[in-house]
Amino acid sequence: DKGGWDSFMDKEIHEDPSAVRNTLIGRFDEDGEIKLDEVHIDAEAFRQIDKIIVVACGTASYAGMVAKYAIEHWVRIPVEIELAHEFRYRDPILTPRTLVVAISQSGETMDTLMALRHAREQGSRVLAICNTQGSTIPRESDAVLYTHAGPEIAVASTKAFVAQIVAAYLLGLYLAQVKCTLYRDEIHQILDQLKQMPEKIQWVLDHEAESINDAASKMINAKSFLFLGRHVGYPVAMEGALKLKEIAYTFTEGFAAGELKHGPIALVEEGEPVVVIVPSSRGRNVLHNKVISAIEEVKARGAFTIAVAEVGDPDAEKYADIVFWRPECPTLLSPLVDVVPLQLLALDMAELKGYDVDKPRNLAKSVTVE
Ligand code: BG6
Repeated sequence: DKGGWDSFMDKEIHEDPSAVRNTLIGRFDEDGEIKLDEVHIDAEAFRQIDKIIVVACGTASYAGMVAKYAIEHWVRIPVEIELAHEFRYRDPILTPRTLVVAISQSGETMDTLMALRHAREQGSRVLAICNTQGSTIPRESDAVLYTHAGPEIAVASTKAFVAQIVAAYLLGLYLAQVKCTLYRDEIHQILDQLKQMPEKIQWVLDHEAESINDAASKMINAKSFLFLGRHVGYPVAMEGALKLKEIAYTFTEGFAAGELKHGPIALVEEGEPVVVIVPSSRGRNVLHNKVISAIEEVKARGAFTIAVAEVGDPDAEKYADIVFWRPECPTLLSPLVDVVPLQLLALDMAELKGYDVDKPRNLAKSVTVE
């Protein structure tokens, strides 16, 4: 049931706020103590973990990439991201102290399942982050942390992505708690900030939909798009690029903005749309200026620039042709809001082109072959 929306994808994007809210519910108490009682790995085993490897495909892998920035910062252990289909064919280094985190919306992706089987055979523990109760990936894992995004029907994943980030962040905060790498107050503060994210996402849905739709109609004939970001904005850029490929059949590529001068800038020609995820300018964030100069660089070569930026950012306003605004929020949490305009942009572009947004050509919701 589309509940009055034109498509499941439209409905599911509008469920981004509740996906975040529901994934947080019941996972910590009033004092900010994380409680992952459902995860049957004892605290001592968690304390021993010295490396995390995330295995996933598509959107789920980008959620894992976002989580790397937060978990390494909070827990001070290395986090690697590996596309599940590459993982077991290269003899990865796995020990009993490695935690393999398998992220999957459907819980049935064969590539991810084969990767987790390999990890368990090598003696590592596997924790699944999954949206589908009772599916194969959680059943075959040592533990599961469910994302409570609700059933996702549209092939292109949206609300599951934000829920996966939240679940991975809860795991990171739990590790920080048992390993004492963050103070209780710090964990409490991050949880408070996470709790505010649903309303920030809602703000984007309420205030930016019209300008995103306008932008989509301006760019309807574009043959290709580039997406740029840095730090957590980098995986968001790749996710934005993936959404547009999947449902609008547009050639897109997501890049780390710093890589621009090492190659991708050669692609920029007159009128080329370039979508840039701009980090906050607060706290004299050095990356802000670097990303703004990336906008200037591509604009000087004729690009049509679209920025996703924090409300009131004077540089985004000055340099980008179009700005999709998002409310102020901490850098590590910004992917939860920054991805929303990119989901809407892909939806609008596909609808304007007359495509079936829920069932894009050649794709399946869960790919159960290797
Ligand atoms: C793909 C889907 O084939 O599988 C993507 O089309 C999805 O949308 C990817 O991100 C991974 O799926 P899952 O269910 O393992 O998260």
